[in-house]
Amino acid sequence: MGRLLLTSGQVSVVLSASIVFLFTFALFLSGYVLQQRTVHSLQAAIKPRLPKPLPVAKPIQPPTLDVKWARPMGGRPAVDESIDQMIAGQTLDWSRLGYGQVVREHVELCSAVMLLADLHKMKSPAKKLLLFPKSWLKETTEDEWDPQMTTARRLLRTAVRRYGVTLIPLETIVDEVDESLPSSYSLASLYSLTNYERIIYLQGPGVLLDASALDSLLAFSKSEPMAAFPATPERKDLSTSLFLIHPSMDTFRELKELRASRPMSDLDLFRKTFTPPESLISEWSLTMGNVVYKSQNLRNAIDGFNATVFQQATTYVQLSDPELPGPEYEVPYYERVALHPRNDEAREAWKNLYEGFRQRRMEVCGLDLETWTKPVLLSGSAVETRDGEQAAEL
Ligand SMILES: *[C@@H]1O[C@H](CO)[C@@H](O)[C@H](O)[C@H]1NC(C)=O
Repeated sequence: MGRLLLTSGQVSVVLSASIVFLFTFALFLSGYVLQQRTVHSLQAAIKPRLPKPLPVAKPIQPPTLDVKWARPMGGRPAVDESIDQMIAGQTLDWSRLGYGQVVREHVELCSAVMLLADLHKMKSPAKKLLLFPKSWLKETTEDEWDPQMTTARRLLRTAVRRYGVTLIPLETIVDEVDESLPSSYSLASLYSLTNYERIIYLQGPGVLLDASALDSLLAFSKSEPMAAFPATPERKDLSTSLFLIHPSMDTFRELKELRASRPMSDLDLFRKTFTPPESLISEWSLTMGNVVYKSQNLRNAIDGFNATVFQQATTYVQLSDPELPGPEYEVPYYERVALHPRNDEAREAWKNLYEGFRQRRMEVCGLDLETWTKPVLLSGSAVETRDGEQAAEL
């Protein structure tokens, strides 16, 4: 049997060769690991986490659009060369893009005008559309003078003159129903506005923090029948907090027919017509911050919550706390205090949102908060919230 015999000199040569090899390999490995780390941190740095800070009083000619949002919604971002041209401001026809507010009853009017006024203040180049019951235009005689109607007409005039709003009188969604009932009107009417390519609806009342993020969503999204903000992070259902639609007579007719078959909330109507996840805003578009944030979630803020960062990362805050009737109503101080978030920063943010809303309401509408009387509910009865969902018993 042949054995390989090595002299001590040969052994040391082999040994030092292996050591050199081992060191080289170790060096290569550490270099590789380092490189991978760099790639990861680069990827992390490139991945946009937060929308850019508020565009403070910047002139928007041509519109300052946030390129981070320049992706179609509803699917994976696809490369679209026309986007470059759009960013250059050439092919984008802002007169065919709009924000639509739908008002069904008097108490909603001021909040709708406030949102459109915020868009105006933040210099959104898109159209601002206000849909309201056509019956509000009926001539009334002197002796039927109605203070609510007087306020409504004043606010509609203000919206047009001060904030460049386009008024659109609404027909009832189903023919031959009581036109004085809020439930006779529907968000589905937005689909009949076929002069517009895309419309964003925001559910009020709320506070808009960053119009440019929404402008970009409006400008760069693909036209699809429905792209709604998801009701939950699990993306199982759509919500009506915010949605982007492509108006079309076909969709309008379909919704109108379904609604005529039996009474239902707009949320149900949309959920029966559009299916998740195709009808939801893409996850990709939502990774960039809080597109819609509900004020009640500030109560879950954890240590380290930073109000400045929150403000910068949030596009729209819906003022919705289930125990409160809405920010338009005066609620006794002790009842509000009971709802304050425990976290100091979150509490300040929460208070500022509600207080800011109150001030802006006076500024835009010249209105004080409404007085609120707690509804007397029979035990076991439930109330329908603005979302059209059954709220917990009060
Ligand atoms: C919140 O974040 C901002 C910006 O990152 C920072 O300047 C500020 O100090 C933070 N505030 C607190 C209370 O940590």
